Amino acid sequence: MTTQTEKMLRFDDQVVLVTGASRGLGRAYADLFSQRGAILVENDLDIVEPPEPETTQSQLASTSKKFAIAGSAIDGGALVERVLALTGRIDSLVLNAGFLRDRSFAKASEAELHELLDVHLMGPWRAAKAAWPAMVKQGFGRIIFTTSPAGLYGGFGQSAYSAAKAGLIGLTRTLAIEGEKHGILVNCVAPLAASRLSMGVLPPPIAERLPPESIAALVAFLCHPSCTTSGQVYEAAGGTIARQIMHRNLGLHLGQIPNLEAVRDAWQAINDASQGEDLVSSTDALLRFVSRWPDASHLGVNV
Ligand SMILES: NC(=O)c1ccc[n+]([C@@H]2O[C@H](COP(=O)([O-])OP(=O)(O)OC[C@H]3O[C@@H](n4cnc5c(N)ncnc54)[C@H](O)[C@@H]3O)[C@@H](O)[C@H]2O)c1
Repeated sequence: MTTQTEKMLRFDDQVVLVTGASRGLGRAYADLFSQRGAILVENDLDIVEPPEPETTQSQLASTSKKFAIAGSAIDGGALVERVLALTGRIDSLVLNAGFLRDRSFAKASEAELHELLDVHLMGPWRAAKAAWPAMVKQGFGRIIFTTSPAGLYGGFGQSAYSAAKAGLIGLTRTLAIEGEKHGILVNCVAPLAASRLSMGVLPPPIAERLPPESIAALVAFLCHPSCTTSGQVYEAAGGTIARQIMHRNLGLHLGQIPNLEAVRDAWQAINDASQGEDLVSSTDALLRFVSRWPDASHLGVNV
């Protein structure tokens, strides 16, 4: 008979980097990975690094299962190089560090856009880029990017944050396609949880029902070797987990070069969402357009 312990998912010998691990969601993720046996590398701006001799490969071989790297996750490449120097491998990247700027578009500045692109998009891109060759060599890797409902749907005061967070969705889908043959799975989470970041954004009676710990199992499962899912975006809040679906309505073929009035007259049908299809890649999206052409079968397109 299988015992509960045998069924438990563990991360023994797996090196997991969690950025933004000092508090909030990152803290909850780090704790769960630690409890399940991972060799955890935490990063945060305000993290305290232990003295140098405690963070060597020989130390890892004996007892150390926890490493701390101070500094900005914007330097994702340098961060991953440190992880590789400390542990010799990297299995999972949980790219979670970040902050919010809440300002209407009329008042938002380009400097803020750069700040948010740096922390939410550039840092994770650099970390993934630096880890990629090691993951390809290992034939194994898990990358978790962190988007937001504001990145998916938009939100008042979130123009720069939304732009940065939405960039991660395209990055997730493309890296999932490129990583497939190397055993690298890439997914994205859009959490909602009470934290320093969301304080003042979430109404208090709802916030108290949204502990950061409620997101941790999703993130850990996506990193586990037994998970085979890639290229997906999951939303999670207070114990509910849902998959974001890239869905396009059937649309309408109006001839190769539709005229302006034809677009006007077909506007309702163009927007009709009663039927649609899920898309898995840009090639899939193109082929489905081609399949609407009257002569699609002559082109050998059949989706
Ligand atoms: N809390 C939510 O409801 C919510 C919603 C959508 C998205 N998110 C995203 O989840 C992630 C975590 O947010 P949280 O709610 O736990 O916020 P939080 O403020 O509680 O924690 C974020 C952590 O990231 C660290 N950090 C910020 N910039 C950093 C940098 N440059 N380098 C290293 N560490 C840095 C902070 O010091 C902090 O410890 C963020 O990417 C955020 O955008 C959160």
